Amino acid sequence: MKTIYSAIQPSGIMTLGNYIGAVNNWNNMQADKDNKCIFALADLHTITVRQNPQDFFNNSLSFYALLMAVGLDVNKSIVYFQSHVRQHSELAWLLNCYTYVGEMNRMTQFKDKSAKHVDNINMGLMDYPVLMAADILLYGADLVPVGYDQLQHIEITRDIALRVNNIYGDVFKVPEGFIPKVGAKIMSLQDPESKMSKSDPNPNGVISCLDAPEVIMKKFKRAVTDSDTRIAYDPENKAGISNLLRILAVAEGKSVEQVEAECQGLRYGDLKVRVGESVVEMLRPFRSEYDRLIADKAYLLKCAKDGAEKASAIAEVTLNKFKSAIGFVPRQG
Ligand code: TYM
Repeated sequence: MKTIYSAIQPSGIMTLGNYIGAVNNWNNMQADKDNKCIFALADLHTITVRQNPQDFFNNSLSFYALLMAVGLDVNKSIVYFQSHVRQHSELAWLLNCYTYVGEMNRMTQFKDKSAKHVDNINMGLMDYPVLMAADILLYGADLVPVGYDQLQHIEITRDIALRVNNIYGDVFKVPEGFIPKVGAKIMSLQDPESKMSKSDPNPNGVISCLDAPEVIMKKFKRAVTDSDTRIAYDPENKAGISNLLRILAVAEGKSVEQVEAECQGLRYGDLKVRVGESVVEMLRPFRSEYDRLIADKAYLLKCAKDGAEKASAIAEVTLNKFKSAIGFVPRQG
């Protein structure tokens, strides 16, 4: 039995990048009976950037419904809000005392986000990877399915776990990151040199999993490519076309080589239409399922409560094991 753990921030929209890079893999892993899957809405991470309370509340519920709509099954996987399980914050504090400031300073995401939010470089932004390490280590995860941009955080999680184990013995399972063969980094449709990101100021570069079919088609038709006419998978010289081929491969369940061969001779405009249509078909069932789920808030909250209870029970065992290894006096009763 392998333990699979991952999380997504409930901010803004769920992008096609989130789906292809991470959530699609979560679905695949959930389908394997030998996996025990645990997925969180990383809402504590989300407040490292200032949120409007009403939007944050709505987005959080919306993401819970979305995760279910795109395939997570609460009868097979534990799906919960990070903020409902107090052990995350507590373990993050403990791990802070085993993490060096220099390590956090060097994190790519911290540097990027500090540059973007110069007026709010808060401690949480810097401490973000430690909270992420706490998430993963609490559940004894073997594998952490993520997109490429999160691999550095998994590396630091491993470093922290090994450091603690070196001092106290076998406290934490040392996890491994898992990225998909295709689609670990989906790029913006408007700027294929940069990652598709929910915070992209240009909405045409980003597909939301809930975009209407005509919106998806319009965005793909406008996708930036190059001045050549040849369809080839060549990420270095043909970033836009290569990104489209990657998306097409995942949407049609084929390899990049296969779609590249199938698309030989197509004009760029035709390729964009084909990718758009395949993505519309891939996302189509999500929208109606989402509409159904979001209408029943009581059901969502009940699922989230059950998820948090199951998660807390596991988290508490790991937390106590670590506290006892450190030498804390256990609370009685
Ligand atoms: P977040 O919310 O930014 O993204 C969720 C997942 O989507 C992946 N992703 C992408 N993959 C491919 N192409 C893209 N353009 C793209 N954009 C996003 C991300 O790599 C991620 O896997 N810190 C995390 C959430 C987190 C977490 C954890 C993840 C909190 N605790 C513990 C794993 C384990 C984050 O902000 O992901």
